[in-house]
Amino acid sequence: MTVQSEVGLTHEVARLRAELRHREREAADKELQLQRYAADLREVFKQERARAQELKRSYMATVRALSNAVEARDAYTGKHAERVAAYGLEIARKFPPSELVLTPELEFGFLLHDVGKVAIPDAILYKPGPLDSAERALMSRHPVIGSEIVHGIEFLAEAADVVRFHHERWDGAGYPDGLAGEDIPLAARVFAVADVLDALTTERPYRPATSLRYARGMINAESGQHFDPRVVEAFNTIEDQTFARIAAEIR
Ligand SMILES: [Fe+2]
Repeated sequence: MTVQSEVGLTHEVARLRAELRHREREAADKELQLQRYAADLREVFKQERARAQELKRSYMATVRALSNAVEARDAYTGKHAERVAAYGLEIARKFPPSELVLTPELEFGFLLHDVGKVAIPDAILYKPGPLDSAERALMSRHPVIGSEIVHGIEFLAEAADVVRFHHERWDGAGYPDGLAGEDIPLAARVFAVADVLDALTTERPYRPATSLRYARGMINAESGQHFDPRVVEAFNTIEDQTFARIAAEIR
């Protein structure tokens, strides 16, 4: 090798080394930039998640306020809606997600089932004796009125099913639409059992509370008539202590 070509080679090596250092610096800068992006993204994600949770809490607080407003008129039922919602969720949990998904909206529907009662006059709501046929007709409009109230609110759209159909019966003898069997949304069929369970096991001015055992008997006797037999089956798999715990916690 000549001296000249040796010098040329040394230069070439130096040039390549310099280029390599330059590329390494570039790569390091890029990595740093990427790390910054990732950190920014994590921060945005964290904030979004916090915001979503805050929104969910606000929704829940709004729904609770609304359901409390309804119940405030109906003093004897106490925290009926909250208990029914808890019972309903226990039963709903027994169904696979392909049939019934446990969403906040489902719980909203349970909590707001009687929201339509805001439109029922006190004289009917508080009438101590039995209702005459005109009063009964008005009273039986509360599921329709309720579903109209919640229909306008986007985050309550799913809840509307429970509100509208919570007085339907498996045998078709319910109201307001006289739906039967699986035409009634499953959430509303689940709710119907939870509702009767709470009605029976809480004290009313005209009768004492029944025992859970008695309520179970009544509900089973209505399987296939008032209630969907599959919902009654699901209800039967839940232990007494689960219901007793809910009743003790929400009173
Ligand atoms: Fe109702």
